[in-house]
Amino acid sequence: GVGPWDECFEVAVQLALRAGQIIRKALTEEKRVSTKTSAADLVTETDHRVEDLIVSELQKRFPSHRFIAEEATASGAKCVLTHSPTWIIDPIDGTCNFVHRFPTVAVSIGFAVHQELLAISMRTWPYQGSQRLYELSHSSWDLKGRQLEFGVIHHCTEERLYTGRRGQGAFCNGQRLRVSRETDLSKALVLTEIGPKRDPDTLKVFLSNMERLLHAKAHGVRVIGSSTLALCYLASGAADAYYQFGLHCWDLAAATVIIREAGGTVIDTSGGPLDLMSCRVVAAGTREMAALIAQALQTINYGRDDEK
Ligand code: IPD
Repeated sequence: GVGPWDECFEVAVQLALRAGQIIRKALTEEKRVSTKTSAADLVTETDHRVEDLIVSELQKRFPSHRFIAEEATASGAKCVLTHSPTWIIDPIDGTCNFVHRFPTVAVSIGFAVHQELLAISMRTWPYQGSQRLYELSHSSWDLKGRQLEFGVIHHCTEERLYTGRRGQGAFCNGQRLRVSRETDLSKALVLTEIGPKRDPDTLKVFLSNMERLLHAKAHGVRVIGSSTLALCYLASGAADAYYQFGLHCWDLAAATVIIREAGGTVIDTSGGPLDLMSCRVVAAGTREMAALIAQALQTINYGRDDEK
């Protein structure tokens, strides 16, 4: 049957593909690069061009919808989820890779809706003790009554399209995705990203987190320069875990649906439920693995997306 968000999903796929063409073409051209929050936080004209295309097309099709998009936020737009359906967009994830022509570059489009019924049933949930467990196991409900409906990520330098729709599975170019079932940290391939802060204290904690995982004898730790694609590799079963401090809701929204639909777990670095606005995450194929990673980590404070 036809679901209420089918049209939105189809439009998202078309726009992610169009955006990918623009990015692929621009990859080999001369770029004008500017910095944002730090010398390692980059933006180009193509980021703006692609974001403008995606947002203006979506606005035309769905005039009542809201938007959270990376570059608009950098220019001062607020990151808030309202009761309106909300698109959460990263026009180029891996901008630094894009600048260097390193081939992990993606477009990420996530979509969240408000579910009044769900919010009510959570408030009246009778078993206080089991609430947290319930939230963890059904944790697409972690947005205070809002739910991530679908995610589309286009790995445009490789022409791979990752999609996930709530209750309908996750796919890459039409092939079903399944996460790894590994539970043993000493057999894990772990992915992470550095994040934009490069001050000595932040770097010390970043490196000590990596050291802790290597001491625990993880098979390896990889940094590929794109949070969304690292999360897609996790969804594909090509890695066992992912963690990061300093990413944003537009790095997480689409990928979270894809991982959960591939059977994986996405939680907060504290071990509790994911908070999309908290700038931190642990994801893994299994809950056991996610818990082990969360336990090993020291926190790096990046503030919140909805308090900037
Ligand atoms: C960034 C990249 C980077 C990660 C940052 C992201 P952007 O996205 O994914 O690898 O460390 O947290 O914000 O700025 O290239 O869209």
